[in-house]
Amino acid sequence: MPITVKSPREIELMTEAGRILEIVHKELEKALHPGMTTMQIDRIGEEVIRSYGCVPSFLDYNGYPASICVSVNDEVVHGIPSEHRFIREGDIVSLDAGVIYKGYHSDAARTHGIGEISEEAKKLIRITRESFFEGIKYAREGNHLFDISSAIGRYAEERGYGVVRDLCGHGIGTALHEAPEIPNYEMGRKGVKLKAGMTLAIEPMINAGGWEVDWMDDDWTVVTRDHSLSAHYENTVLITEGEPVLLTLTEGIQ
Ligand code: MF3
Ligand code: CO
Repeated sequence: MPITVKSPREIELMTEAGRILEIVHKELEKALHPGMTTMQIDRIGEEVIRSYGCVPSFLDYNGYPASICVSVNDEVVHGIPSEHRFIREGDIVSLDAGVIYKGYHSDAARTHGIGEISEEAKKLIRITRESFFEGIKYAREGNHLFDISSAIGRYAEERGYGVVRDLCGHGIGTALHEAPEIPNYEMGRKGVKLKAGMTLAIEPMINAGGWEVDWMDDDWTVVTRDHSLSAHYENTVLITEGEPVLLTLTEGIQ
């Protein structure tokens, strides 16, 4: 599939999809507390998404059974919400959500600490977020796609972290996953040339230990092979001739 370049009208719709998803993440962050189940997080997320007239894009996507991916501690991504899974003080919880607004998708993820968390966990969350911002320094027309990948990967690896290689970021628009795939590691190639109007979901998944991951028996949940902590940070990004526009992050660092 070719990489789509969005029209001004499409960018308007994606901007709104992004704005709503930013609100969803803020509401989820406010609601997080020790003792709640991961299913409660999913319910709150779905409710907020629907209250804005949007559809949760993950629900039923390839059979995924929930609206929010909730991944705790050594879970990397795609954790399935459960009535039996309680989050506790000291946990780190990655929340990944997507909405569809008038046919257009946005996709974003955040990792939060529950109450007091270890210095190791705080640093992992910070480095993961910083690796994203390092990557998007290159996200502008005329640069090559893998400039972003390499910058993310180098930033995390130089600091001793494991960069997940089995999962990538992606183009996004009328589908959740469009071309191109966006790895988070050094590619040794250039990748396609970026053009204004492309919209990309850039999403480093970074492990405190090794980069290797496994899939659990539910066929969704991805965990670190060495059971080290993992963090995820994602925004939907619009490429322009200048600075990229973060469609899911309009109000400073989150
Ligand atoms: N942000 C994730 C991704 O881009 C969301 C997909 S989860 C699924 O792959 F449940 F929808 F598959
Ligand atoms: Co994504």
